[in-house]
Amino acid sequence: MRNRVWAGPGFEILRFARQNRGLICWLLPSRGFPLNEHTLSRRLERVAAHVPVGARLADIGSDHAYLPVALMRRGVIASAVAGEVALTPYNAALRSVRENGLEGSIVVRHASGLRAIEADDGITAITLCGMGGETIRDILQADSDRLSGRELLVLQPNGGGQPMRRWLMEHGYRIVAEEVLRENRFDYEIVVAERSGPVRYTEVELYFGPLLMHERSPAFMDKWDRLSRLKRKTLEGLKRANHGVADEKASELTRQINWIAQLQR
Ligand SMILES: C[S@@+](CC[C@H](N)C(=O)[O-])C[C@H]1O[C@@H](n2cnc3c(N)ncnc32)[C@H](O)[C@@H]1O
Repeated sequence: MRNRVWAGPGFEILRFARQNRGLICWLLPSRGFPLNEHTLSRRLERVAAHVPVGARLADIGSDHAYLPVALMRRGVIASAVAGEVALTPYNAALRSVRENGLEGSIVVRHASGLRAIEADDGITAITLCGMGGETIRDILQADSDRLSGRELLVLQPNGGGQPMRRWLMEHGYRIVAEEVLRENRFDYEIVVAERSGPVRYTEVELYFGPLLMHERSPAFMDKWDRLSRLKRKTLEGLKRANHGVADEKASELTRQINWIAQLQR
């Protein structure tokens, strides 16, 4: 019985994987293989794809500096600042840069948010990834005087896209690209924006993403199908709990469920 299992198609897959470890690693970078400055997660690969060639990049909340190191190794960017507020990831970023011999082109700064950026850096693109949308908004707001307005913002919020987009709109940033991707059972959004002058988005566009809701990609529609089911379940729970605080939450949830239902029509 055991032999039959090993002789079946599963064995072929296993043998292929063993013989082509490098190829599998490239195809499936985030499953079972370590991520590093050579092998980015699919999420960071998609972020990388939005960074313009020749950019002077500031990666804020850089952790191991995987993104700027990978982009520099590939010759995509001209220089980078890797900003990190926490000591352990800051040290990890220093180590990645040193191990790749990139001290001449990537500066690692221990600083909160945009304070990592100095006027002389001539930054042309900023990445803020893997944080809540509210945190990204707060980082942009806290030191907005460090923004020249010429930088492309490449943002990857983990939730909280609506407040983040509201900040962009209120500060004259137009959303020029958006995407949704799914990796390891999480849905991720990427929002790319540039300062353009006054711009107006509706509440629904801020919630779903103005470009995403018009494009309606399969990944985007699947994400909202899943969220709709989740929100309906939460609403049922709140209705059963039936008290004052829950009422407010319930009416907000009902509003969102109705928006999603309109999207699904
Ligand atoms: C989940 S990690 C994401 C790392 C990387 N950007 C990515 O997307 O894979 C978030 C990082 O942001 C850092 N961070 C959070 N708030 C920050 C701030 N105000 N300034 C700089 N870094 C910050 C955290 O210390 C942490 O290393």
